[in-house]
Amino acid sequence: MSELESVALIASKTPQPGIFLEGFQHIYFLEYKLTSEDDSAVKRAIAEGLMADKVEVVVSFGKTAWQRLQPRWTPATLEPFTTINGEQGHRAPSTQTDVFFWLQGHDIGEVFDQAVQIQTAMQPVAKLMLEERGFDYHHEMDLIGFEDGSANPKTDQLKHDAAVIPKGQPGEGGSLVLSQKWVHNLPKWNQVPVHAQEKVVGRTKDENVELEGDAMPDDSHISRTDLKVDGVAMKIYRRSAPFGGVKKNGLLFLAFGCELIRFSSQLESMYGLTEDKKIDQLLNFSTAVSGSYWFAPAQEDLVEVLQ
Ligand code: HEM
Repeated sequence: MSELESVALIASKTPQPGIFLEGFQHIYFLEYKLTSEDDSAVKRAIAEGLMADKVEVVVSFGKTAWQRLQPRWTPATLEPFTTINGEQGHRAPSTQTDVFFWLQGHDIGEVFDQAVQIQTAMQPVAKLMLEERGFDYHHEMDLIGFEDGSANPKTDQLKHDAAVIPKGQPGEGGSLVLSQKWVHNLPKWNQVPVHAQEKVVGRTKDENVELEGDAMPDDSHISRTDLKVDGVAMKIYRRSAPFGGVKKNGLLFLAFGCELIRFSSQLESMYGLTEDKKIDQLLNFSTAVSGSYWFAPAQEDLVEVLQ
């Protein structure tokens, strides 16, 4: 039995499996704003979209949509994403909508077919607000040439602790989710010498080792995101993927957390909304163009809500 299976035995509810399945080559983001007032039609459409055997589909909901479909309870910390205006003029815009499908697969044809199936089911009840196709780049690298996900929690237990709402809380077995589309300025980034890029990220490029002591700047990406709040490490489980082509490209940032503060504290620190007012140097090379918070319910709660 894997560690995750033993964890599932003590947790009363089961996270959607796609959250923890890694190693896919193709991903797809679909974000919808509900247009229909008919709850039963909405539920049927989502259920149809989720019918899949070759592709992993994880569905999550914005706060308003969740409260509409499940009026009895809401995860304690779930809120809509609100636009962040950074200390030095950088912005993380809110594009919050209602339903988010995250697809992962090994075959782009199958992933595309599933995306079409979802769109066909959802089109009568919702408007597609964001669509983007992501891909694995050189085994989990970001397009900036650094591995993405290295400091993710390592064991199944640690991933679960970071990503899943604990037993006894509303939404137990589910996750809070942050999705953000980031557009890179790769021509600008690629002009930066490697040792300076390493200072921006906070890790070495080839060996992928975290910088230490005086070598680690306060405004590196790692310094801004490796945080503790009231003694608690703000661990999240990141599942981002690159997207785009040679002219426009970037990162589909995606992360799962057991509480919203895990994301909001990191974002505030990146955008300089902290005492030291320093901003993450990565912001000078990449721009967030979308941002939403979601709730990915446990399997049991999803089945109940879609009935
Ligand atoms: C353009 C957008 C972004 C890029 C290219 C990016 C890239 C990276 C890279 C290369 C690393 C180092 C390797 C690793 O541990 O994965 C990293 C670490 C990390 N990133 Fe990002 N990231 C982005 C946005 C974000 C955002 C929006 C957040 C949080 C809201 C975030 C949270 C983290 C965390 C928590 C770590 C690990 C810190 C630690 O060492 O404990 N990143 N990211």
